[in-house]
Amino acid sequence: MTRPGKSVSSGRAGSTRRQFLLGGAVAGVGAAAAIGADLAVSSTDGPAAEPAALHGGQTVQFYGAHQAGIDTAAQAHGLFVALDLLDGTTREDLVRMMRILTDDAARLTQGSPALADSEPELATVPARLTVTFGFGPRFVARARGEAPGWLKALPAFAVDRLLPEFSDGDLLLQIAADDPLAVAHTARMLLKDTRSFASVRWSQQGFRRAHGSVRPGTTMRNLFGQVDGTSNPAPDTPDFDQVVWNRDGWLAGGTSAVVRRIGMDLDKWDRLDRGGREQSVGRYLSNGAPLTGTDEFDEPDFEATTPIGFPVIPEFSHVRRARSENTAERIFRRGYNYDDRPIGEAVSLSGLIFVSFQADVDRQFVPIQKRLDQLDLLNEWTVPIGSAVFAIPPGCAEGGFVGETLLT
Ligand code: HEM
Repeated sequence: MTRPGKSVSSGRAGSTRRQFLLGGAVAGVGAAAAIGADLAVSSTDGPAAEPAALHGGQTVQFYGAHQAGIDTAAQAHGLFVALDLLDGTTREDLVRMMRILTDDAARLTQGSPALADSEPELATVPARLTVTFGFGPRFVARARGEAPGWLKALPAFAVDRLLPEFSDGDLLLQIAADDPLAVAHTARMLLKDTRSFASVRWSQQGFRRAHGSVRPGTTMRNLFGQVDGTSNPAPDTPDFDQVVWNRDGWLAGGTSAVVRRIGMDLDKWDRLDRGGREQSVGRYLSNGAPLTGTDEFDEPDFEATTPIGFPVIPEFSHVRRARSENTAERIFRRGYNYDDRPIGEAVSLSGLIFVSFQADVDRQFVPIQKRLDQLDLLNEWTVPIGSAVFAIPPGCAEGGFVGETLLT
């Protein structure tokens, strides 16, 4: 199912654009000529002013067979909050909590204030806001539901240096929008809703390029400068449906999310030359093309060898190790960059909030992570410091609530 962002035109668009253009005219003399004198000096709205392509009013449908925020083109800002249920929170409380959360998320994503919104003005610019809920193992147990076998902590990997403050959790809120204020306001409203049922365990803030800075559909870049997300199933295709949507019981139409905070040692990466950087992944930094191709979406040729017989895409490279011959072992990656305050001598404390969606964690994610654990040159510069697994229930229709297939 698609969730096209629909444009909501704002009555104030024309004047806002004019203010913007006038700002430009002040900044550069040339701009005034480009605008045209009449527009530049006019202070009243008129039909000549083109409606601006303001983005803040765009909304993503909330209700539907699947939750939004998975097959939605990734927004610029993502916030991931994991909550722990309070000891006394009962199954009936979970129903109440999910009803309230669903109701407020539905309102906020459509640009309306939450039910008891203390700052309703902040709700008017959703900028493709989505809220996606996920359930950890304890949530499903508390709901007295049947948990899928994979709903547990991932097996321990040798590369892991996991910290409890970035791991596990009972309830996930993935809040994403092209405007950071929309994300912050939504988080605050939803956390007010959960206050008597759960407490925040961890929260991680991530970003991609700002909306409008690159063409829509451009694959993201991570802080190593790599094009990251090329080899991903495309939403709204049978392939995506197969990889992502679960078909079992209360989770039918839902999926699973693996959220891993992976530190990227940029200071160490600085010491690697460009050729080494490209070899470590098996793709060019310039445009993400495989080392055997020229275009980002060229298929890597894993058989190709150099004149002296070495594979062009090295055995240790990330793309070779991440790709399985078993086409069932695939995932949909939708991560965000993070950039924290550096500690001590370091000039960065950065990384990736790795997020993948797949129908079944054990069958799809774990084999890939196992291979990368055994061999992947990227491990020299990356270290997983957080890890959590959630069941993402299906979406719901208006009047229903997210989690109803588990809780009713
Ligand atoms: C900080 C850590 C990581 C970085 C910087 C990173 C970076 C990249 C880059 C640059 C690519 C190539 C372009 C693309 O297809 O997206 C790639 C591909 C891929 N990565 Fe990662 N990655 C990281 C962690 C992981 C993890 C933890 C997994 C899963 C366990 C993973 C799974 C994959 C897969 C499945 C591909 C596509 C391989 C193919 O071509 O079929 N990556 N990654």
